[in-house]
Amino acid sequence: MTATEGAIPKDLSADELSKLYRIDDFEMIARERLSQMTFAYYAGGAGDERTLSRNRAAWEALSIWYRVMIDVSKRSPATTMLNMPLSFPLLAAPTALHKMAHRDGEVATARACGTAGIPMVVSSLSTTSIEEICAASSSPILFQLYIGQDRGFLGELVHRVERAGCVALQLTVDTPVWGLREREMKTGFHVPQGMGIVNLQRSGADANGHTGVGMAQTLGWTITPSLCWKDLEWLCGLTRLPVMVKGICRADDALTAVRCGAKGIVVSNHGGRQLDGAPPTAEALPRIAQAVASRVPVVVDGGIRHGGDILKALALGATAVQIGRPILWGLATAGEHGARRVIDILSSDFDRVMALAGCPTIASITHDLLEPSR
Ligand SMILES: Cc1cc2nc3c(=O)[nH]c(=O)nc-3n(C[C@H](O)[C@H](O)[C@H](O)COP(=O)(O)O)c2cc1C
Repeated sequence: MTATEGAIPKDLSADELSKLYRIDDFEMIARERLSQMTFAYYAGGAGDERTLSRNRAAWEALSIWYRVMIDVSKRSPATTMLNMPLSFPLLAAPTALHKMAHRDGEVATARACGTAGIPMVVSSLSTTSIEEICAASSSPILFQLYIGQDRGFLGELVHRVERAGCVALQLTVDTPVWGLREREMKTGFHVPQGMGIVNLQRSGADANGHTGVGMAQTLGWTITPSLCWKDLEWLCGLTRLPVMVKGICRADDALTAVRCGAKGIVVSNHGGRQLDGAPPTAEALPRIAQAVASRVPVVVDGGIRHGGDILKALALGATAVQIGRPILWGLATAGEHGARRVIDILSSDFDRVMALAGCPTIASITHDLLEPSR
């Protein structure tokens, strides 16, 4: 039975969580526990959801041409990105409205990421203040930004997240307008009563937007169709934090972003929520990684659900990957502990895949692992 809005059931116990081994199990349980509106908002994509499903399919289509007879008794999955330590090459992607998944919202996510030793990217549409999130985490926090028309407000927000202790920004650039997400329209998406998009409160009412239906009406003011490269230069000039650009699918755009001051690229199609028909990120990644050629880190997200997907992304040139929905499914299942279990499943799966593929170190994950001809 689907939960009704506001009636979030009791968290799964530690014992119940320990019997879940796959991210898809978490999605199934989340579907039963969340309201139809929340599940539709989290799970859905734009248009016919072709890019959404192709994201996963593209990782699945790659084979790992594993090496044998390599001593993998000592493995090291740890890595760094922009001087941040990562216990393994994973970040929590910015996703909006965590309190719709669990009453502890982004604080639960921050704690889970903190104890797991991975950075969290906080969505600017979070339901918890950036100060509270930073205080809850023991690992680095990045902040995701949209650029709307109110530059004065945005400047203040950037300085606020600097003061709160964020270590980098991710500027999302694949949203000149919102994608058309039919599931959201059909289930009447709105931010539930009692929840606010607290970091974007200018005068109060607009950020709480309880009355809109669908993303476009509720959060339209946070983005602008006039966004262009000079806005990236403006942002890079405004902040001392490194700016990563999120939502890139082309090598030429990645190079322009770097020329404009970006210190990292996130290959992403917003989890299939923006342009339906955009390439799956596994297809976009290798050209971008090749063009950028280690000048800045390249992170990828979209459809990562297994340790093998992480290894494939690194073999295609990524520094690390991000996961969006899996964290939400973990939160919906058991708050901090559910999110932590999701991260742990990916971490132990990645470690096992490294061993099985003959890769004792991150540096040994190279492109030939995906090539049958060698
Ligand atoms: C419910 C939901 C909310 C999201 N909110 C944001 C957001 O506020 N800002 C942003 O840049 N990306 C947002 N994203 C996109 C994610 O950062 C990420 O690109 C995507 O979820 C990765 O795909 P995956 O969910 O298949 O892992 C959101 C995605 C989902 C599913």
